[in-house]
Amino acid sequence: MGFEVIGTGMYVPGEPVTNTQLTRVMDTSDEWIHQRSGIRQRHFAAEGQGVSDMAFEATKRALEAARIGPKDIDYILFATMTPDYVFPGSGAVLGGKLGINVPALDIRQQCGAMLYGLQLIDGLIKSGVAKTILFIGAEAHAGFMPWDDWDILEGKTDRKQTPEQRERANKHRAVAVLFGDGAGAMVFRATDRDAGLIAAKVHSDGTYVDELLIPGCGFKTRPYCQPRLYEEMLYVPYMNGKEVFKFAVTTLPKCARQLCEESKTPIEKIDWFLAHQANARINDYVREQLDVPVEKMPMNIDRYGNTSAGTLPILIDECTRDGKLKKGDLTMMFALGAGMHWGCALVRW
Ligand code: ACO
Repeated sequence: MGFEVIGTGMYVPGEPVTNTQLTRVMDTSDEWIHQRSGIRQRHFAAEGQGVSDMAFEATKRALEAARIGPKDIDYILFATMTPDYVFPGSGAVLGGKLGINVPALDIRQQCGAMLYGLQLIDGLIKSGVAKTILFIGAEAHAGFMPWDDWDILEGKTDRKQTPEQRERANKHRAVAVLFGDGAGAMVFRATDRDAGLIAAKVHSDGTYVDELLIPGCGFKTRPYCQPRLYEEMLYVPYMNGKEVFKFAVTTLPKCARQLCEESKTPIEKIDWFLAHQANARINDYVREQLDVPVEKMPMNIDRYGNTSAGTLPILIDECTRDGKLKKGDLTMMFALGAGMHWGCALVRW
């Protein structure tokens, strides 16, 4: 018994925000951003729009593709690091919107969530706990962007940014330009066909917590939400970009090679390498290390930026709809995210 993906869907909010538009609120350029990350544009969730709203839209499309209704889902797995509420988790919120009260489990492995999700889905299906699982990866990063001047960014005013506001945004520009918002949904179903998870390797190393995290707004402070955290901008992620880059390009090829070796899968037999879209340079580097042809690694980071837990489900939806991913294809997925959490998986489509 394995699993197959019977429907996928995605949703990104509003109009795209180009790199050039970002220069309205910070000192940056299309050239700087594109050269270092491959990103040209991203989308941002609107005020009041949360991950459960975006997930709801993506789910509608996935259910339509799967030709099933919400009542056919018997488990929800929701991956996000930017939930609607500190509690409860966004899976329950989504379940309420779909009108179903099935178990809803939130996971928070950030950009690495899909790999953990695959292991959970495999376990839930093989143990007979669930037959039809809705997996969501969704993020609303807009809430941690280092500017308040959304009207200036969106070109809705002639008002000029204050020098103080620009300085605040510039302080975090290396991180802010990388992220975008959106949701991807995948419906997994039990199957007797030769499909599903062949092998996976996931890892966590908490000694790297300080290299990539949101330093404030956790429950180490009383109260956990206070003006000082805004003043000191501790709601914005801190990232040691060089260290994260180094970590990704050393661990991911190693993880992929080990997985192929242990599962006796020659790398050239893999049809598609589906990579987390954090940075095109990281993916190019990993691809070169593994000697994989460029056409086997689809990328869409230029259009969406890094949507953290959303990138793989969004990429998979695009690859399914444009006919790349077909029944029987062998895929390798890999991803790395804050924690650090990382891993790779071999999945037969
Ligand atoms: N626009 C213009 N200039 C900028 C910007 C910007 N947005 N951001 C930083 N700079 C400037 C800096 O001020 C600095 O200027 P200086 O030399 O005059 O002091 C210069 O550019 C270099 O800054 P660094 O922060 O050292 O930039 P770096 O070359 O390391 O690139 C980046 C930053 C793109 C984040 C890089 O470290 C990287 O690719 N890291 C990988 C991490 C990653 O991709 N994470 C993805 C998200 S996390 C995840 O998915 C788990």
